[in-house]
Amino acid sequence: MTARLTPDDLDRAADILRAGGLVAFPTETVYGLGADATDARAIARIFAAKDRPRFNPLIVHVPDLDTALAHVTMDAAALSLARAFWPGPLTLVLPRRAGSRVADLAATGLPTLAVRVPAAPLARDLLFRTGRPVAAPSANPSGQVSPTTADHVLRSLGGRIDAVLDGGPATVGVESTILMPTPRGTHLLRPGGLPAETLEAHLATALLPPPAGSAPNAPGQQASHYAPRGRLRLNATAPEPDEVYLGFGPGPAGPTLSATGDLAEAAAALFARLQTLDAADAPRIAVAPIPDKGLGRAINDRLRRAAAPRP
Ligand code: TXA
Ligand code: MG
Repeated sequence: MTARLTPDDLDRAADILRAGGLVAFPTETVYGLGADATDARAIARIFAAKDRPRFNPLIVHVPDLDTALAHVTMDAAALSLARAFWPGPLTLVLPRRAGSRVADLAATGLPTLAVRVPAAPLARDLLFRTGRPVAAPSANPSGQVSPTTADHVLRSLGGRIDAVLDGGPATVGVESTILMPTPRGTHLLRPGGLPAETLEAHLATALLPPPAGSAPNAPGQQASHYAPRGRLRLNATAPEPDEVYLGFGPGPAGPTLSATGDLAEAAAALFARLQTLDAADAPRIAVAPIPDKGLGRAINDRLRRAAAPRP
């Protein structure tokens, strides 16, 4: 049985995590499936619940920058990014600190660790109360659509996890932007909830593409991911007769990512619309063109992967 917890049950959620259990919780991006990152058995349960390939490393969530510094080392660029954008939808992949108690399984043996300080108050409160770094991938079976509500989590992982903390819909709606600062410059590993343009303006330099071989088969970087069961057709200006149309901006009545063409609203709605179409067994979905700037880059990245041929 999976318990549905409310914000009043935060201490119980923290107790479950400290005892090695799995608790899904809301961040501002999507719901994460949390486990104590210092407990290898708890992390193994995440992989089992998600049917996730073992070689995919997890993001470790901490309540503040000081806690992050117990687990990773930061150069000047990394520190400046963390100070500017944490808490928020930014993940930094950094060298692991020797004394970190994070289990090797969380980073699947890599010398680096992905860390993030989420902005959602409920998530930070949970992290403070748990008092441990919390590993949390998105709370969905591997390869499927990410969850932005507690109901999405229960629909796909109900019975496989101990609890879900219901904090209402995630406000950003797409996963965090993942950066890897290095002495050569900062690589963009995954576009996400913090626009690349904003980061480039802060760094006063262009982000680099992912280094070759940096993230072998990372799930969010696999060609097919975030996929509903129906087939997706992108950049569609109108639906064909057997298609459900998912609009953006002015257009036909019906489901839309944002009737006014607002990219933040579209990011927040993206996975919920795909979840709804999935639950309704829509066999073919046509999606309107989305401008490839700001949050639109993260939206298009997720849509391309959702539309990619399945393995
Ligand atoms: O917004 C988010 O980031 C959400 C919420 C729950 O925080 N989490 C999330 O986790 O999207 P997940 O597991 O679905 O995606 C984590 C990504 C993967 O693409 C993974 O490969 C990459 O982070 N990653 C983790 N550790 C890494 C490392 N050491 N080097 C390179 N990539 C890493
Ligand atoms: Mg994911």
